[in-house]
Amino acid sequence: MQRSLKTLNTMTDVESTERHLTQYQKRVDEAMAHWLPGAETHPRRLHAAMRYAGLSGGKRLRPALVYATGDTLAVERRKLDGIACAIELIHAYSLIHDDLPAMDDDDLRRGKPTCHRAFDEATAILAGDALQALSFYILAHDPAITVEAGIRLRMIEALALACGSRGMAGGQAIDLASVGRVLDVAELEDMHIHKTGALIRASVLLSALSDPGISAARLEQLDHYGKCVGLAFQIRDDILDVEGDTQTIGKTSGADIALGKPTYPALLGMQGAKRRARELHDEAVHAIESFGERADTLRAISHYIIDRIR
Ligand code: IPE
Ligand code: IPE
Ligand code: MG
Ligand code: MG
Ligand code: MG
Repeated sequence: MQRSLKTLNTMTDVESTERHLTQYQKRVDEAMAHWLPGAETHPRRLHAAMRYAGLSGGKRLRPALVYATGDTLAVERRKLDGIACAIELIHAYSLIHDDLPAMDDDDLRRGKPTCHRAFDEATAILAGDALQALSFYILAHDPAITVEAGIRLRMIEALALACGSRGMAGGQAIDLASVGRVLDVAELEDMHIHKTGALIRASVLLSALSDPGISAARLEQLDHYGKCVGLAFQIRDDILDVEGDTQTIGKTSGADIALGKPTYPALLGMQGAKRRARELHDEAVHAIESFGERADTLRAISHYIIDRIR
């Protein structure tokens, strides 16, 4: 009885946060539709593939973190649209490449055929490349980002680190090299922090940098929050690969086991994986304690990350 009541409350929290996130989703979807070249623009097939992958739904969790961090620091949302877009475009590119036959070889993404299935492999590779370039173009060019040039460069630098060989791409390399191996907890954490955590962490950091008056201490607190929720997010992704059904998660469930990927549930057991995600949520919330109620949405997002069902 106690247990089912708890599950019910959790569901309600998840649903209410999802409703809250819808406003951020709409905002970033509009901005992305603006920045992505039209599907009729030459070369059409490439642009159609970029729009297909970029505008095909998704939770828009990283943009939500950009906006929620901005709300915490009272930064105007229009100054954050370009940052939210840049991060989400890197994410879209990472998913296209992650699904390729040479990587996870997946046919389903966000409930639809993966980009290389809907188009072809070469187009999917190029769409990923071009989405990455567009992301840096936006950060360099967007006139609505009004921070001084030095801070803009710091944002570009932070995003480059987060998605390059010492961030997401490096984490993906570790993931591929780990297939069929048993990692220890430190190795698994290292892989997750890089492949998924780094970009999520950068979502919070880039947004925080857009507050010109932010202190080093506050930046550090937010960055610590980002680090914790970034790892928690991939732990929950591993859990959903086991517990979720294909229709709800919009991608083939059970894929990690089928591919021999090291995951948190495989290493720590399901309860151990959930406990670790909960610890990270507690640590994330603790890190932003001093922000008071301005950070309530960041707290709700952290909670959502470990309880989400898709
Ligand atoms: C899936 O990310 C890939 C990981 C990094 C775990 P999301 O779960 O954020 O995917 P979408 O954007 O909502 O489809
Ligand atoms: C993907 O991790 C991480 C990146 C895309 C960088 P997964 O391979 O677990 O993501 P899903 O489960 O396919 O979304
Ligand atoms: Mg993968
Ligand atoms: Mg995958
Ligand atoms: Mg996964």
